[in-house]
Amino acid sequence: MKKFYYDKDTNSILVSEKEINNNQLEELVANTKEAALEKHIPVVKELDNETEIQVGNVLHPSTEEHYIEWIYVELKNGNLQITFHCDEQPIAIIPYKKEDILAVYSYCNLHGLWKLEDLS
Ligand SMILES: [Fe+2]
Repeated sequence: MKKFYYDKDTNSILVSEKEINNNQLEELVANTKEAALEKHIPVVKELDNETEIQVGNVLHPSTEEHYIEWIYVELKNGNLQITFHCDEQPIAIIPYKKEDILAVYSYCNLHGLWKLEDLS
């Protein structure tokens, strides 16, 4: 299982396979902020040979003040990170089948880390 950390010094996110104990890193725990689940949990839709990922059953807003910064897809054979600008809708089509995906995370600039727990 992936671990996500916020690095206070560099204002960046670190993804790790292992637990890291370091004072400058704050662990981000998915689905713990108080916010609308339906706007933050990624939704996965199988297409022919691709998969569409949308952040939110109700599409998350895309404004300068509030937007999805990235999605992170954990695959059976690697990982994929897709970043968004504040004026882009958080929707991506990736060239993998749904069965190749282990987990999908999204990161909101205001509401933190979210994870789709069940891909079935
Ligand atoms: Fe949000």
